[in-house]
Amino acid sequence: MKICQTIEEMHAACRVARSSGKRLGFVPTMGALHEGHLSLVRAAKTNSDTVAASIFVNPTQFSPTEDLAKYPRDFESDRALLGKEGVALLFSPSVQEMYPTGAVTWVTVEGLSEKLDGKSRPGHFRGVTTVVAKLFHILEPDAAFFGQKDAAQLAIIRRMVRDLNFPVEIIACPIVREKDGLAMSSRNAYLNAEQRGQATVLCRSLTCVRQLWETGETGPDKLLTAGLKELEKEKSVRVDYFEIIDPNSLNPVQKAEKGTLIAIAAWLGATRLIDNILL
Ligand code: PAF
Repeated sequence: MKICQTIEEMHAACRVARSSGKRLGFVPTMGALHEGHLSLVRAAKTNSDTVAASIFVNPTQFSPTEDLAKYPRDFESDRALLGKEGVALLFSPSVQEMYPTGAVTWVTVEGLSEKLDGKSRPGHFRGVTTVVAKLFHILEPDAAFFGQKDAAQLAIIRRMVRDLNFPVEIIACPIVREKDGLAMSSRNAYLNAEQRGQATVLCRSLTCVRQLWETGETGPDKLLTAGLKELEKEKSVRVDYFEIIDPNSLNPVQKAEKGTLIAIAAWLGATRLIDNILL
């Protein structure tokens, strides 16, 4: 696996990888890799001739009060995992390389970026779209792979790609879960044993909504009430949002139907977790 730390080197390596019509698949990450990330790499492998990945803990998507400094970092272990999965090119730039002094240009998907996580994390999605746009310019991938777990991120990146005519196919991959249902996340590492047990309430409440919907209930209010009732069983879990929405516009729906997104974010102590299901 070739590791590039500069934009120039990565850009050139990707150009070579794409020569003579070869398809380049890209998996952007912030490291602290788990099976969820590896499932994206595997999807990229089956879909592309060459797979590139990036590891960059992007400071612009963290607010000053968030966990940038303590975000889990283990480059050696991540590098080994990506190498084992057959990633050919790894981009791991410094912050200065990505945001040279004086960088003041942003990419904002207006309207969508203030919804779901954007409500409680102002500026978060502006940081995500700016870095993803930069990465797309640097790597020029044919396809990029994103997890369905970050459903708002996925919708916002799709919209950015459409609105700015990026020649990149966005491929969404299913959520990978622990045996007990907890959606895999780098932030699960912050949970203590008690919180780890409580954290399954997120997927249990989503399942509860789905089960009620499967009985024929389509009213968002009734579905949400059932989900929140389940969530309240874990007294120390604080809900941030619980929404029944269209997965593209992120707007609330009048009626839950096949393809509707049920999305939740909740706090366990200082850790904020997200999860969702598509009906
Ligand atoms: O989903 C993530 O890990 C990040 O938001 C991404 C897409 C790598 C941008 O920093």
